Amino acid sequence: MAKHINEIIASRRALLGGLAGLPLLNLAGCATGSTSGAPAGAAATFASVAATNADTVSLPPGYRWQKLIAWGDALFDTVSPSFDPDALTRAEQEQRFGHNNDMLALFAADYAFPPPKDQDRMILCANNEYAAPDLSYPRITTPAQYTPAQVEALYASVGVSIVEIERADSWRVVRNPAPGRGRNRRITPFTPVRFSGPAAQHPWIVAASRIVNEAEPGAPEGAVSCGTLANCAGGYTPWGTYLTAEENFDGFFSGRVSVDEQFSDPAVALDASSFGYPSGGLSDRTPRQFRFEENPRGPSLYGWVVEIDPYDPTSVPKKRTALGRKKNECATTALAADGRVVVYNGDDQRDEHVYKFVTRRRFDPANRSANMDLLDDGQLYCAQFLENGEGRWIAVTAEAANAAAAAEESPIRFADEADVLMRVRDAARLLGATPMDRPEDVEAVCDANWRGLGPVLIVCTNNSERGFERPGNPRRESERPNSAQSNLAGHILRIDEAGGDCAAERFTWNVFAMGGDPNAEGLTGPVRSGGAPAHISTKAGGVETVSGDRFACPDNLFIDSTHRVWIATDGNDSVFADCNDSVLVTTANGEGPRPVKRFLVAPIGAEVCGPLMAPDERAFFCAIQHPGASNVEGADYSQLRWTSGARPPSSFPDGGDAWPRSAVIVVTRDDGGRIGD
Ligand code: FEO
Ligand code: CA
Ligand code: CA
Repeated sequence: MAKHINEIIASRRALLGGLAGLPLLNLAGCATGSTSGAPAGAAATFASVAATNADTVSLPPGYRWQKLIAWGDALFDTVSPSFDPDALTRAEQEQRFGHNNDMLALFAADYAFPPPKDQDRMILCANNEYAAPDLSYPRITTPAQYTPAQVEALYASVGVSIVEIERADSWRVVRNPAPGRGRNRRITPFTPVRFSGPAAQHPWIVAASRIVNEAEPGAPEGAVSCGTLANCAGGYTPWGTYLTAEENFDGFFSGRVSVDEQFSDPAVALDASSFGYPSGGLSDRTPRQFRFEENPRGPSLYGWVVEIDPYDPTSVPKKRTALGRKKNECATTALAADGRVVVYNGDDQRDEHVYKFVTRRRFDPANRSANMDLLDDGQLYCAQFLENGEGRWIAVTAEAANAAAAAEESPIRFADEADVLMRVRDAARLLGATPMDRPEDVEAVCDANWRGLGPVLIVCTNNSERGFERPGNPRRESERPNSAQSNLAGHILRIDEAGGDCAAERFTWNVFAMGGDPNAEGLTGPVRSGGAPAHISTKAGGVETVSGDRFACPDNLFIDSTHRVWIATDGNDSVFADCNDSVLVTTANGEGPRPVKRFLVAPIGAEVCGPLMAPDERAFFCAIQHPGASNVEGADYSQLRWTSGARPPSSFPDGGDAWPRSAVIVVTRDDGGRIGD
């Protein structure tokens, strides 16, 4: 089995005597000029926000926030402008903004390449990741009260929301008269989609599609009414399409299945065990196609990257099977030196891998329609990190995976390329991909023409199970090196593609930043969970990686035109009890330790997702997901709700005694200036 990234980090450190002797991480030569003309990577000038557990969005002086749109807000005039969550139906939810918003992307109102900077009308695409039964119907105080129709409405709250927005005095949503009249749109787990690419006709997909289309008739010829779900992060392409990444799809398949049944097909048993389906759930009230007993190959319809044309509300989304099936966190694009398209993604589960896909054909900036199926044809790679600071991208093919399986006397075999893409985790493991600490966002530094410059940041959010007894933990320099501790605060790696070309098959790598507390007096500190003290030093190999504000569990990144790196966290409050999840900023330029400033603190119980700026960088957008999912003491709200009927601990964004709602917010400066300057 391939060594874990943490063992490789430690071995490399021993080899090099620490990380200080490695090449400087200097991007100054790559700067493409900021929107404001500010020097590339200049330190952010705002006053850092203090740690807080306030139930609001906290910002530096001179900045303000507003709600742009929240769960349940009307997308069309065909539904009431006011929202009563207790009255929610599937039909209503299909015309209202979805729940638990995650990834955000903005598209110019009229497509152009390169994307124009001066846009006052745009299209916002937002992922809606999951349904929260405890935070949906205010009058439901126990799961037993849910009706099948309400469960169906929960499913409809997931997927993607597409919304036109415009800037007058401030950014606001443009409601459309009716579905199809304008670009506003909901895509749910019931929307017809097409499978395309090499695995489109995989026998699992064919079998599951038949059951879905029986349960949900009316799909156009060749399409499947399975829509999309578990939409976490994603990406966007130079030809103006949205990529939504399906992540934790396992939780949407309810039911129980006997061990005998599961193990009758070893490939299915491996798949179920790797992804963790089915979950218990409300199986007697779940739509039929999501009941595991009724649709045992249903999980094969998810775990893909889905491409959506936001300019055409009648377009059928396409599941791009060439990118492989996994718990995709993201799908970040960059152009290679020769114009081919590279898509990076992380598979967010403990000890899973990092991937990239390189198209066979080149992007054509002069002909949008010629690019629309570029993602069906190309080569998928998995990342292998070497102890000498180098790394390689290993091509994932059936031939290579079968040879690797035979060499280690594994019984696993792949029938063809489609089978490799369906079960890509198994193939990557056999091929020697490096297991990671939950790889979340992967972001490439690009120029204004989308050309990847070579540096790519990989966020490893945490690993709650890998203890210090494993010698390679990056947090090894504990005063208690033999006690079992985990990488609770996470870290960010940086790779540099060979020759500054994102299509390269070789790279070098380094630790970019360690999560934790750079001002900690000791190497370990107490964590909110009340468990053993965790290692919170931000040093790697004895060398400090960051300075300034502490943070834990980085999740999503945004790299602006000056190469400032905006870091959104998911789980900061699980390590640092006195501060809700946050957005912090550092820079990719120069050498460490990197100065970190806290820019935004989210309300109680929320994570922050989808950090993004308007093209002119005068507005910062982010998604506040699941406010109230835990309380200030760190207790999980669903436990409180189902045991005592407690009210949610947050009322964001409406305040007072309002029911909390996930929401997209916009942050601007009082003087209208560029964010961060
Ligand atoms: Fe949906 Fe990996 O966060
Ligand atoms: Ca995430
Ligand atoms: Ca997350």
